[in-house]
Amino acid sequence: MTKLTRFLIMESSLAASLFLLTTPLFLFFIFKQRFRSSKNRPPGPPPWPIIGNIHQIGTNPHVSISIFAQEYGPLISLQLGTQLLVVASSPSAALEILKTHDRVLSGRAIPNAFEHSFSPFYLVWSAGCGEHWKSLRTLCRTEMFSPKALEAQLKIRDEKLAQMVSFLQGKKLEVVNVGDVVFTTMFNTISNVFFGKDLLEFEDKHGITAGGLKGKLFKALEDGTRPNISDFYPFVRKLDLQGLRRGNLKILKEIFSFWEDIVEERRARINSSLVAEEEDKCFLDRLLENGFSNDQINICALELFIAGVDTTTSTTEWAMAELLKNKEAFSKVQEELKHKTNSKIVAGLQVSECSYLNACIKETLRLHPPVPFLIPRRAFEACEVMNYTIPRNTQIFINVWAIGRDPEVWEEPLSFRPERFLGSHLDFKGQDFEFIPFGAGRRMCPGLPSGIKSVQSILASLINQFRWVLPNDEDPSKLDMNEKFGVTLQKKKPLQLIFKDLE
Ligand code: HEM
Repeated sequence: MTKLTRFLIMESSLAASLFLLTTPLFLFFIFKQRFRSSKNRPPGPPPWPIIGNIHQIGTNPHVSISIFAQEYGPLISLQLGTQLLVVASSPSAALEILKTHDRVLSGRAIPNAFEHSFSPFYLVWSAGCGEHWKSLRTLCRTEMFSPKALEAQLKIRDEKLAQMVSFLQGKKLEVVNVGDVVFTTMFNTISNVFFGKDLLEFEDKHGITAGGLKGKLFKALEDGTRPNISDFYPFVRKLDLQGLRRGNLKILKEIFSFWEDIVEERRARINSSLVAEEEDKCFLDRLLENGFSNDQINICALELFIAGVDTTTSTTEWAMAELLKNKEAFSKVQEELKHKTNSKIVAGLQVSECSYLNACIKETLRLHPPVPFLIPRRAFEACEVMNYTIPRNTQIFINVWAIGRDPEVWEEPLSFRPERFLGSHLDFKGQDFEFIPFGAGRRMCPGLPSGIKSVQSILASLINQFRWVLPNDEDPSKLDMNEKFGVTLQKKKPLQLIFKDLE
């Protein structure tokens, strides 16, 4: 029995009785929905009455949906309750959605658990591409992700890398969970850029990681991505039958309290005549100078942590796992770093010039895109894609995981072969639709330059400083590479390593 099926069976009896009571209403909606949208919609597995295809999705939807695409074609439709979902699984289908029809297909479907009074302030989950979304995106690009901003962040990055290395030096001979260390490094890098302060500790002495900020962030995200009756049957969303929206709001408020004092302190400084030196200003100062309210600041910080930390961490962890498994590629990266860099901590420009390291990162993103469906899009208006009709308000996924493993697109798609990117024009900047781990079009990831810099510098510093050994003399070539679908696509078995001195 899949987790999803178990979940549907186990949900409270209250929900079940409500379902029975509202069955006639359901049938009416479903009939209306199918009557309205089945005309010329993309093919897909036949939906069951009421639940549609919910029971066929399983715990690894990127895999189950790829299998449907093999049977029904590169553009398929699935019925999730009353919600129509269209999934693109080929470069040409992705191009039509993200380029040809970018304007009408750039909405987002906000999970009901994230629908609160502050929804109009969202960036990642912004339902539309209105004025607030535009100005916030522009501010982020200029102040956080532009070449000038990245240059200004070099000191912070160097410092966070040095802290990571020193933590690992103190852990020699101990088994370390790589994801935890990279997560803290990434989190503190972003929190320093945003708030000018660390918010997490490497050493989890006070349960900060488990019960504090990190734990709460994961809980908020898990609730937001859990199967929710309100998302499958939006006409009951106001009732919040599983209490996910209420629970989520409570956790978000707890999360915001972690940086409340910092915001107040900086606001007071700006309101007084104490003007900080330009180089001491953090992103928070920019938001305050632009008149952002506390709610707007809280949501912006939350979304940047959510969008930026787990994606970068999972890419780094997968890259390390692939390099451990592929000894030859690992030696080539080591050699390249030895010749091209002159310091052990590598945050600067040099690392972007390491073509083999960068080919390894691209190959990792091809095989293990952290956001396998991109972030769900929504159709503002009805439109035609590949001669099929996409009705208004349809949810749209792009299965970049399936595109990255398609044998019609890639030679030996399941092998880790960084060489395929050497001397190739293929890039992840949203122009080559066979390789779009950061998405494309107007909702494409604005954090790409920062995320890539982080993966490059963390990986390079770990390779330059340590020898990596698997616990219990495990054979690296037999490393478990199974995936777990969740907030991001993670390694099912977290990568654990012993970091030793280089010989
Ligand atoms: C390896 C690292 C990363 C990957 C693979 C990644 C991937 C993605 C993807 C696939 C999307 C959705 C694009 C679409 O819908 O077309 C996205 C959106 C976004 N990402 Fe990233 N991301 C990464 C790092 C970052 C970082 C470091 C930040 C910021 C600190 C960030 C901020 C955002 C934001 C704000 C959005 C929403 C854009 C919008 O809806 O307008 N990302 N990212």
